[in-house]
Amino acid sequence: MSDTLYTSICDLLGCSYPILQAGMGGVARSELAAAVSEAGGYGCLGMVRESPALIASEIAAVRGKTDKPFAVNLIPAATDPALFDEELAACTEAGVETVVFFWDVVPTAVEIAKAAGMRVIYQLGSIDQALDAEAAGADAIIAQGVEAGGHVHSNVTSMVLLPQMVAKLSIPVIASGGFASGASLVAALALGAKGIHCGTAFLASIESFAHSVHKQNVLEANAHQTVHTDAFAINWPKGSPVRVLANDMTDSLGDRHFGYDPATIQREVVGEEDGRPLYLWSTDSPLQSMTGDLDRLAMFAGQVAGQISGIESAGAIVTAIVTEAREIIEKLGARQ
Ligand SMILES: Cc1cc2nc3c(=O)[nH]c(=O)nc-3n(C[C@H](O)[C@H](O)[C@H](O)COP(=O)(O)O)c2cc1C
Repeated sequence: MSDTLYTSICDLLGCSYPILQAGMGGVARSELAAAVSEAGGYGCLGMVRESPALIASEIAAVRGKTDKPFAVNLIPAATDPALFDEELAACTEAGVETVVFFWDVVPTAVEIAKAAGMRVIYQLGSIDQALDAEAAGADAIIAQGVEAGGHVHSNVTSMVLLPQMVAKLSIPVIASGGFASGASLVAALALGAKGIHCGTAFLASIESFAHSVHKQNVLEANAHQTVHTDAFAINWPKGSPVRVLANDMTDSLGDRHFGYDPATIQREVVGEEDGRPLYLWSTDSPLQSMTGDLDRLAMFAGQVAGQISGIESAGAIVTAIVTEAREIIEKLGARQ
């Protein structure tokens, strides 16, 4: 039997299953990326605004745990250009094969990464942006729907965005936002995707570097308990919305979820990480290395949080998605 789950994205990236782990800043360190890749998925280090030294050591740490391929996530539009160049140079020097970019399309970032011999996958939330990234030389696009956790550019759901993006592009498209099960993998393939990209599902894994308060909140949330807002604004350009779990902070916004400006938000320290202050309304989310009033920070998570009921190992999550997808494909094939 040919394996329906082995797609062109597996060929492109060298993984066994078309299950990409989102490169979540702070959360997706070497433990998580290595565990996903080792299980046959495609791990990714979340390295937004990290130092070249940390990027180099995290890449080495993944290689110490697995010989399977993985990627590094960077965000050109949310990073000081000088630091971004250094981050990219760290990836090149370490021989990284694939970088995953997010947010606004920065054609020069694609050009530099490609010239250095790396593959570029761009996560985007609109068809026009995806066409721009394709024109700039991207090798694949991740189509992010509005139900996704973390920063969210799109204003339509992945179910609607995905087939329309697939119809317009000639490079492979990967589905993101709301994918955490085998059933959703089959649905994504049916809609023309070559794979899925999962954030929230792996945020709630044993290997994720998220603080237990964040993981626990994911387990307790239902599909209706996320908020789409640009109030968590400090560290990113103005007008960069996120999806977070509802908490006292989002309740305090009342009906005003949008229109916040990082430049005018008063700096109130709510915690610290290695001497670095953590500000209320920043884009920092609770990590194991942080102390303070962490449940006031941004609890990034997608609407799919309502589907997650336990903290599993990343390898078990990959296996569960694959097993369920195979069962569903078999059942669909057996129907008259
Ligand atoms: C905790 C968290 C942190 C995230 N950080 C990043 C990031 O640093 N870079 C990035 O490209 N995407 C980031 N995202 C967004 C993911 O790439 C992806 O779009 C999203 O998780 C997909 O939706 P899902 O959460 O329903 O799986 C983050 C998502 C979460 C949940």
